[in-house]
Amino acid sequence: MARKRQTWGTRLGIIMAVAGSAIGLGNFLRFPVQAASNGGGAFMIPYFISLFLLGIPLMWIEWTLGRFGGGFEHGTAPGIFHTMWQKNRFIKYFGVIGIFGPFIIFIYYSYIESWTLAYSFFALTGKYAPATTEGAMQSFLRGFQGLESNSFFSVPLPAYPFFLITFFANMAVIYYGIRGGIEKLCKIAMPLIFICGIILMIRVLTLGAPDPAKPSWNLINGLGFLWNPDFSALKSAKVWLAAAGQIFFTLSVGIGVILTYASYLSKGDDVVLSGLSAVGTNEMTEVVLGGSIIIPAAFIFFGPGQIEAVAKSGAFNLGFVTMPLIFSKMIWGVFFGCLWFLLLFLAGITSSVSLAQPTIAFLEDEFDITRKRAVTIFGIISFMLCQPAIFFLGKGVVNELDFWGGTFCLVLFATIETILFVWVFGMEKAWKEIHHGADMEIPVFYKFVIKYITPLFLFLILGFWFYQEGVPTILMKNVAEADRPFVLATRVFLLMIFMALAVMVKIAWSRKRKRRKT
Ligand code: PFF
Repeated sequence: MARKRQTWGTRLGIIMAVAGSAIGLGNFLRFPVQAASNGGGAFMIPYFISLFLLGIPLMWIEWTLGRFGGGFEHGTAPGIFHTMWQKNRFIKYFGVIGIFGPFIIFIYYSYIESWTLAYSFFALTGKYAPATTEGAMQSFLRGFQGLESNSFFSVPLPAYPFFLITFFANMAVIYYGIRGGIEKLCKIAMPLIFICGIILMIRVLTLGAPDPAKPSWNLINGLGFLWNPDFSALKSAKVWLAAAGQIFFTLSVGIGVILTYASYLSKGDDVVLSGLSAVGTNEMTEVVLGGSIIIPAAFIFFGPGQIEAVAKSGAFNLGFVTMPLIFSKMIWGVFFGCLWFLLLFLAGITSSVSLAQPTIAFLEDEFDITRKRAVTIFGIISFMLCQPAIFFLGKGVVNELDFWGGTFCLVLFATIETILFVWVFGMEKAWKEIHHGADMEIPVFYKFVIKYITPLFLFLILGFWFYQEGVPTILMKNVAEADRPFVLATRVFLLMIFMALAVMVKIAWSRKRKRRKT
């Protein structure tokens, strides 16, 4: 017996939910670091080209495919792909990537999200205040992550309780469902994110040069550090790949979560304007707020030399080492520090629930089980799978998960769904489907873009990226000798998860076939 599928409460609700998925740690940590280290202002050229040729078309494609699939009671890619190309028996297995990818990202994303909750608490209680140098703050972070033996903390892994709280908060939200959980959360969290972000932006934009001996460490030069264009960077394929990768990651496209969210729309709901509104909200937050907080603040307090060094050592160090130091030098530092980590936590949780939802929808739709059972199954399995990310953080496990889940799957899945939509489903049908119930017409030249340019661009990225980063990564060229067994084990683990999901698809389909016969 078919259950009634859930639906969104309001149109603003789904826009907020998609924007909530898009606005995350990527906007406030990943974007500024990517821009500053890939040509500054010049980065915005490939960034905006990727936005218009990849990001926006993919957003429309995924909203449309999701709504289409929802009409057939399918909220995830295996079912949606199968409905689009019924004659092909294998296409549903390609759809497995659309559940696998979000699931893998969820495993490490939820852990990193829990650090932001912990640091809000540390800011409030003055726990990190005694660390006044970069080295001390760095070792505070490592101690917190369980990577340092002589840590500030007396328990072996201080991060763990915060992980538990974050994990159960995520489960609680998805337990209450689309309307009662995710939509409600986003309606509350999104305005708070904007308020926190705007307050922090104003604080940074009104900072003077704190060190009279270094008057050039000021706001204008800080903004210039991020935005002054270095056009020679455009000659490097790496910069183009970084820009396209950032667009995918920040918009949450190419992975399957938007498909699932859009599957809870009704047939007559608009997707063109709603999709565009979600993109616009994300871009405003990323470029304006994301670009005005962390880099200018770090420049003003630490100068250009140190930012480069810290940014190279990873996005997290700027967020969890440099920012706390800055707040401790500021008047009202406790308040601003708390605001910063709370902002990251809210941005994180509205993204991580979207990463969990495809697996839940898959279990509900294809195995006909209740949401509560689906959440319980997902909770138990994902909880177990989070453990290697937590305990082997220092062994390259998270990087490996990010590479396969957060980079490789994105480009691959985006290429498959685009080809399927415009070439198998057919461009004319696709165009009609996109415009069904639309409040706005897409300019016709986008028909050309979606049909030819987007797939071509995707193939180019896939090829270049595979050549430049894929091959060395597969051969573990950048992994320390000692970490290789862990990375290899992670790969075996990932392969097993993928196979398990593929077998589940097979079982679900053969059960359906049998049921149809009887
Ligand atoms: N868009 C999120 C961010 O910018 O942090 C991350 C993310 C969420 C990526 C959901 C992919 C996804 F499916």
